[in-house]
Amino acid sequence: MRFLIMLGLTVCTLQTACAQQTINDLHPYDYSIEKDIKVLHGAVVSAHPLASRVGTIILSQGGNAVDAAIATQLALAVVYPGAGNLGGGGFLVAHLKNGRNIAIDYRETAPAKAHRDMYLDSLGNPITQLSLDGHLAAGVPGTVAGLFASMKYAKLPFTKLIDPAILLADKGFVITASEAENLNRDKADFERLNTAKTAFIRDQPWKAGDTLVQKELAHTLTLIRNKGAAGFYQGETANNIVAEMKRGNGIMTLQDLKNYKAKERTAVAFNYKGYTIVTMPLPSSGGICLQQLMGMVEPYPISQWGFQSPQAVQLMVEAERRAYADRAKFLGDPDFVKVPISQLTDKKYLAARMQDFTPGKAGSSEITKAGTLPESEETTHLSIIDADGNAVAVTTTLNGHYGSKTVVGKAGFLLNNEMDDFSVKPGVPNMYGLVGTEANSIAPAKRMLSSMTPTLVLQQNQVLYSLGTPGGATIITSVFQTLINTLEFGLSPSEAINKPKFHHQWLPDEIAVEKDFPDSTIQAIEGMGYKVVKRGSIGHTEIIKRAPESRFLEASGDKRGDDSAAGY
Ligand code: GLY
Repeated sequence: MRFLIMLGLTVCTLQTACAQQTINDLHPYDYSIEKDIKVLHGAVVSAHPLASRVGTIILSQGGNAVDAAIATQLALAVVYPGAGNLGGGGFLVAHLKNGRNIAIDYRETAPAKAHRDMYLDSLGNPITQLSLDGHLAAGVPGTVAGLFASMKYAKLPFTKLIDPAILLADKGFVITASEAENLNRDKADFERLNTAKTAFIRDQPWKAGDTLVQKELAHTLTLIRNKGAAGFYQGETANNIVAEMKRGNGIMTLQDLKNYKAKERTAVAFNYKGYTIVTMPLPSSGGICLQQLMGMVEPYPISQWGFQSPQAVQLMVEAERRAYADRAKFLGDPDFVKVPISQLTDKKYLAARMQDFTPGKAGSSEITKAGTLPESEETTHLSIIDADGNAVAVTTTLNGHYGSKTVVGKAGFLLNNEMDDFSVKPGVPNMYGLVGTEANSIAPAKRMLSSMTPTLVLQQNQVLYSLGTPGGATIITSVFQTLINTLEFGLSPSEAINKPKFHHQWLPDEIAVEKDFPDSTIQAIEGMGYKVVKRGSIGHTEIIKRAPESRFLEASGDKRGDDSAAGY
């Protein structure tokens, strides 16, 4: 197989005609990663080249961006098991060519037997491993319900959208070096946390180019193909999930599965200097925090200060400190808690939040708390823009890499460990170091707060960008930086996502930077009194731009993973 990283124009250009692509164009045993492409009609960027290829095939067959998003997610559930999923949840944000914005929430919910203190010992101390590993860590999966809720906006029959995923699971595909590395790294966990044989464990270590076949997953996908959402939430698959729970002391029941509903929400849409930013509302914290972040930096001449200048980084960090402090105190599932959204995003409130910002001097999370009102980072993102100008941004997740690491016996898919996104105890950090309060405490059927921020940028009601990223707590700040990098600093889509990133989340009170973040900026910021820590990569941002003055779509996959763009 070829693991080339290719740059440049893809198959179909201004000069070449575009044939309709078929499943024969998929090449599961011989594919390459393409980081940056320019295409004329439609583009898909996702965490895996085969999934991006599936989305493009659907677009070329007359599917719209929503069709392609459904097919790409199903393919990711097969070829990117670390985060692509049937056993997790996600959010879809779309802008349709008729001008309508859509937000579909298919976040997992707490099972009916879940309760506020379920991860505390008899002394009230958190047993964090219980919300991270195995059966008890799983929320009721939302993805399959989300795919069927999305079908309302699709053009092609569902069977056409799921067939590529069934093929990839049934006949297999060759894995990349990073997938082999991840499967080998987590082998002991898979052995510890599974009650049945899984396709991910084998005697000899995995290596790049090995074929991964997932017959049980192909069977589950076929049940969904034939029976719709009931093929997952009822009957054989639901029975398999509940049998798995019984073998592993989990609490999810047939009734929990039957009761699960995806919800259409009103997308967050706000103005930033003439652009409309469309993104995900609660139970994602992403939309509200992004609106706060953009609103807090808007009054400052950030583009004059320059990309990665100490002044610009400091301003963004101080906005992040304040937004994440508010996140911890106020945000939770809007169906369970009253969140003062309009006050939190009010321009006067945001200006007041920044009143104690002192240029050149580090702020402090001891002093800056939430505002007072009259309150393995593995996820995956895909972006799609089609020939008609429909655009989709989807972020979907199992939470940690491979989620709870428990595969449902006989059903072949991994369960999420999303329960860790609840606040298991006020003030106790979750695996991303995020703290929360009562607003995000566990309750039956409640959705845990998320940071996933699938985002679109519109200019005169036409889509300019579709973007988003995985990365746990860093999702919001990565989307924020990518927006500022493009809209303020004028970086190209590829530069905007690939330049080194930084992150601040109120607590801990430190700025995390990627290892290649410029030393000169780090020194200047440390000189202001900030603690700066170097860390591994931040997010895998995917982006597509359709510039009004250009005939091309520019699609870029993040350099940090196997992320790959495709189009026609
Ligand atoms: N599981 C990561 C998130 O939803 O923010």
